[in-house]
Amino acid sequence: MNRYAVFGQPIAHSLSPRIHAAFGAQFGIAIDYRAIEAGRETFAATLEAFARDGGRGANVTLPLKEDAVVLCDALSDRARRCGSVNTLLREGERWAGDSTDGVGLLRDLARHGIDARGLRVLLLGAGGAARAAAFAFLDAGARELVVTNRTAARAQALAHVLGPPARTCAWDALRHQAAFDLVVNATSAGHAGDAFDWPLAAGATPAACYDLSYGRAARPFLAAARAAHARAMHDGLGMLVEQAAESFERWHGVRPETTPVHEQVRAMLDARG
Ligand code: ATR
Repeated sequence: MNRYAVFGQPIAHSLSPRIHAAFGAQFGIAIDYRAIEAGRETFAATLEAFARDGGRGANVTLPLKEDAVVLCDALSDRARRCGSVNTLLREGERWAGDSTDGVGLLRDLARHGIDARGLRVLLLGAGGAARAAAFAFLDAGARELVVTNRTAARAQALAHVLGPPARTCAWDALRHQAAFDLVVNATSAGHAGDAFDWPLAAGATPAACYDLSYGRAARPFLAAARAAHARAMHDGLGMLVEQAAESFERWHGVRPETTPVHEQVRAMLDARG
């Protein structure tokens, strides 16, 4: 049987094996998809062993998305552009890399009734996750994309690559900004569990807030968004399902139905508390 896996660290609680099993069930395909623990030092060797054992495709998550770029012999345009790979496909003796995060984010936003076209978007963060989101927003026709990061130079470098209508704003200067249509948290700050320090002025209520993380990691930002009276708040669980559907289609040539899987993984996450 062809084998599939998600690589990352930590990976034990990944929902991806369940998501791919649910997709496979829609087509009567038994999917051998596992979560494989690999850190930055062990990833290359672990991936090689996986390929030898019949690995045909893989997802890659924290902290390996940029390392995966280097291990690929070919890259899709979107993976090259955002410097990040979350999907690997075995083609003969080589790995081809793709990035399905951006399209996954846009599909999940659409599910929530949010079309980024014409919106004024604030993006918090300038790491790998933020890069994929930033390109997706420009592709979707955002009117303005303001990139802010704790380390300002990283935000400036990203805005430079993106070009207009992307620009940067210092984190401390965000309180002078008018209200945004959409505020997206792409920082990994929530993983530490600390309270999120809301950076916008009290009157600048955002229409919608979205955290690329889910579960506990998304709670500090979403709690701060609620306190700021944001009109809609969403975590990134739906993006996880949508990027997985895109990966599944690349591997199996068929597009799974995501609606029932969103409900399943939400129930699984809620059961974890
Ligand atoms: P990812 O792949 O999740 O994007 P990353 O590339 O390590 O991971 O990027 C993490 C992002 O979260 C960065 O924008 C980082 O800011 P710095 O560039 O200043 O490091 C941001 N980040 C991490 N912890 C943070 C915190 N406590 N407060 C604000 N931003 C934080």
